[in-house]
Amino acid sequence: MNQTVLLTGASRGIGLALAKTLLARGYTVIGTSRSGVIDSIQHENFHPLALDSTRIESIEESHKEIFDRFDQIDSIINNAGMGPDLDQLIPDAVSFNSTFELNVKGVVLFTEPLLERISDSGSVLMISSKMGSIEKCIAFDSVGYRVSKSALNMYTKILANRLPFIKIAAVHPGYVKTEISETALLHGRLTPEQSAENILSFMESDFESGIFWDSETGSELPW
Ligand SMILES: NC(=O)c1ccc[n+]([C@@H]2O[C@H](COP(=O)([O-])OP(=O)(O)OC[C@H]3O[C@@H](n4cnc5c(N)ncnc54)[C@H](OP(=O)(O)O)[C@@H]3O)[C@@H](O)[C@H]2O)c1
Repeated sequence: MNQTVLLTGASRGIGLALAKTLLARGYTVIGTSRSGVIDSIQHENFHPLALDSTRIESIEESHKEIFDRFDQIDSIINNAGMGPDLDQLIPDAVSFNSTFELNVKGVVLFTEPLLERISDSGSVLMISSKMGSIEKCIAFDSVGYRVSKSALNMYTKILANRLPFIKIAAVHPGYVKTEISETALLHGRLTPEQSAENILSFMESDFESGIFWDSETGSELPW
């Protein structure tokens, strides 16, 4: 397989597991982190790239680097995300702003100029969360995080409407043991490696564009 995947947030958690699994499956991976250094992966097909999606200068520098070095991208996995108000009842301005800067604005501004580089058979996955599903929501915690993922889902749907030749989906990665929150680390049901396998099986399947997919259960989620 000679396909290139651009993956954000490849330094730890689900993103690191995605990068390693993609490489094992024969993909070339452009993997981002804020520092641009990802020492835990040494592979000839791995290209680390600096990206802080909350800084427009960093997004623009990353685009320049990508356009200079890579002619075509087959898939983008927008995985980088944060949840500083996860498990909090009341939203606060600092965590609300930073969550939106990364989970929404950062994803949109990073993705837009890259779309022209995506191959016709390519795909764009947004790593969203079931916590952003409005229809299923009976909770009242984690306001910034939940609303950011609902907004990301809307962007996913808009892109799928606009670009019928690219397969685009929002994906819930399962409840995964990562550092995104203490609760996830302690009580997550999946390892990052299990989550990565599920996400990539979905990416490689003939999925319908414009859907919200639960990669843990292998079924569609309501928006
Ligand atoms: N874990 C779960 O149970 C769970 C459930 C549902 C959805 N998700 C979603 O899955 C995705 C990955 O989460 P995770 O659990 O693997 O989280 P994580 O372990 O905290 O990893 C987050 C990744 O995002 C990157 N990142 C953080 N701030 C950034 C910024 N300003 N600009 C660019 N990259 C930045 C980090 O890289 P650096 O810090 O090195 O830059 C890191 O690679 C997120 O979108 C999350 O919302 C996770």
